[in-house]
Amino acid sequence: MEDYRTLEDQARERIAAAADLSALEALRVEYLGKQGSVSALLKTLGAMAPEERQEKAPAIQALRQSVFDALAARKAEMEAAELEQRLAAETLDLSLPAPEMPKGSVHPVSQVMDELAEIFADLGFAVATGPEIEDDWHNFTALNMPESHPARAMHDTFYFPDAAPEGEPASSSAAVGQKRRMLLRTHTSPVQVRTMMSQGAPVRIIAPGRVYRSDSDATHTPMFHQIEGLMIDRGIHLGHLKWTLETFLKAFFEREDIVLRLRPSYFPFTEPSVEVDVGFAIENGRRVLGGSGDEPGHGWMELLGSGMVNRRVIEFSGLDPDEWQGFAFGVGVDRLAMLKYGMDDLRAFFDGDVRWLRHYGFSPFDQPTLSAGVGARA
Ligand code: DAH
Repeated sequence: MEDYRTLEDQARERIAAAADLSALEALRVEYLGKQGSVSALLKTLGAMAPEERQEKAPAIQALRQSVFDALAARKAEMEAAELEQRLAAETLDLSLPAPEMPKGSVHPVSQVMDELAEIFADLGFAVATGPEIEDDWHNFTALNMPESHPARAMHDTFYFPDAAPEGEPASSSAAVGQKRRMLLRTHTSPVQVRTMMSQGAPVRIIAPGRVYRSDSDATHTPMFHQIEGLMIDRGIHLGHLKWTLETFLKAFFEREDIVLRLRPSYFPFTEPSVEVDVGFAIENGRRVLGGSGDEPGHGWMELLGSGMVNRRVIEFSGLDPDEWQGFAFGVGVDRLAMLKYGMDDLRAFFDGDVRWLRHYGFSPFDQPTLSAGVGARA
């Protein structure tokens, strides 16, 4: 009997220590298999005298049961551990925090440029670009501002120290033998010249971009943004200009009651030149565009410069002014943004203050479209 106890303890100990299922199976075979030690003990019962069998049979049966139970328990334990391990490995933690929202925003200047591109695309205008480092021929001379022209002095130009001019094809006679000074373009108007020279006529483009002047206060920064418009075709007149500006400004400000006033003015590159004012009313101490500036309590605000392209500019650009005519306009993009979205200090546009950007910036999802509104705000 003592031997059975020892055998049972030993078996249970080894079973408890079994490392894996195959070790456990080996132990099962060793104890309970056909040739197993416990099975061998059971076989001895047949040869025993009845009294002895009566005494030993329950002990051997109990031993067999005990080993069997230990094997089953250890097996269940191993299977549970394996399942546990698999569950832990395959866990998908749905409670993970959502990724942070991206912090960037679309600058109002970019947003307004996109709005303008959308509006003018609908009128058949493509977007054209030109270099910000320009030469004085494109920036001034070809725009009918020769060397001595007083308008040059009014532009507060940033000139580069004299250097060999970048190779612009000397196709125009005016450029031949003339040294070109390099500068930061003072307006987007040189893109008019570049576009006519590179693509001929007819032309329908807008040219948004950065321009530079040595000037700085609450409404002037050394770098600011303009958008130029140019239409060249046969038989273009001031009526086309007025309709185009009206259509553009109504779409941009999303109001049907935009009223324009065209005032005679002077720009070297247009003839005749007109300055365009827009009517506004005062509401809650703020200027709100809309209605005629001549109504009581209303006023006119100067908005942009424009006119019929001077025939000398068309000539400088290599086209025949007797065949091609057109209109042009130039307007400050930053100013358009301030009027539409209500900022009052231009300098803040370029400070990069995240609080300002968060407040005035746009979501990338606010894509301006004519159908959804070019001023959609999240
Ligand atoms: N280039 C002018 C400026 O910077 C703006 C301008 C006026 C552009 C009249 C034009 C125009 O195309 O026709 O002040």
